[in-house]
Amino acid sequence: MRSKMPETYFITGAQGCIGSWIVKALAERGDTPFVFDRSEDRRRLDAIMQPDDLARVRFVAGDITDVAAVRSALEASGARRIVHLAGLQVPTCNADPVAGAFVNVIGTLNLFEAARALGVERIVYASSAAVFGIGDVDNPVDEDATTEPSTHYGVFKRTNEGNARVYFLDHGINSVGLRPLTVYGVNRDTGLTSDPTKAMKAAVLGIPFHIRFSGATDFQYVEDTAAAFIRCADDAPNGAHLFNLHGETEAVEQIATVINEKVGRDLVTFSGPEIPIAPALDDSAIRSVFDDLPSTPLKVGVRETMRRFRELCDAGRLDTSDIDADIAATTEKTA
Ligand SMILES: NC(=O)c1ccc[n+]([C@@H]2O[C@H](COP(=O)([O-])OP(=O)(O)OC[C@H]3O[C@@H](n4cnc5c(N)ncnc54)[C@H](O)[C@@H]3O)[C@@H](O)[C@H]2O)c1
Repeated sequence: MRSKMPETYFITGAQGCIGSWIVKALAERGDTPFVFDRSEDRRRLDAIMQPDDLARVRFVAGDITDVAAVRSALEASGARRIVHLAGLQVPTCNADPVAGAFVNVIGTLNLFEAARALGVERIVYASSAAVFGIGDVDNPVDEDATTEPSTHYGVFKRTNEGNARVYFLDHGINSVGLRPLTVYGVNRDTGLTSDPTKAMKAAVLGIPFHIRFSGATDFQYVEDTAAAFIRCADDAPNGAHLFNLHGETEAVEQIATVINEKVGRDLVTFSGPEIPIAPALDDSAIRSVFDDLPSTPLKVGVRETMRRFRELCDAGRLDTSDIDADIAATTEKTA
């Protein structure tokens, strides 16, 4: 179990969605999150954290592709625990694979090099279910399944997993690569699979929203994802481990129905290709190591997300920049 002494956690990409929830959870329990991100935009942290907890957070702005910046920030943090999330999502990697490789692959190597230089012995990093290619709902994939990524992003994540293994073999750096699929919840606003969360936000505002994919995917509530990262950072066994994360595998149609029922109107629609990633992940491996990981049911996670969006909206603090185009389209139609 985690020691009672407060710890410092060096978290890359912590201004993003998953990172913001990790920072929140760590600060609330009295630890010190050290945020390393190229973005200085604190709106995601502001959206979910209390000012007292935010005051515990330390910030360094820096780019993960800059090895010297990564090393000096890690050294300044004094952290012995690292969570690595900085990365570009599928659409950005598709549009510019070279930039994607710099950030997702070279950036990850930079962090492992910094950890090696400073003698930090464990890194928990975001891999992705995108390492798997196409699959079906009736055949959940475990960690032994063949990985045949259908995107550059998936290839980059698979490459990181291989490099993490070599850092363990060559230098004894322990690591855990976690593989989420469709994380949802407040602050999920980037990448195609953020559409269900955007639909929840739009529905709270009474705005129609069209989810641009169909079929089933593995939905995990963001607080559960954050809890898995923290648990692994605290207590993972030595070695270079890979763990699938699983929430609930559901059809997009079902999530649209849940949202529409909550607002009593058919605001959410969907169409488009299926996500080219196996939609059902078998997470028995991580659960055999940690039997206390939370598992929020989809309906509960959607309800909680919409409640938080409503609360932010009522307080005049809801950031709508991710759905402003949808809001503008609705305004035009009704004008
Ligand atoms: N959200 C999901 O459903 C999901 C699923 C599988 C894997 N992942 C992985 O988990 C990680 C976190 O996902 P998220 O949803 O929080 O992403 P996000 O896009 O919300 O956040 C990513 C963060 O990384 C930062 N970043 C990007 N490039 C950087 C750079 N060059 N240097 C420093 N910081 C940089 C961004 O500023 C941002 O704050 C990512 O690596 C992502 O690939 C996410």
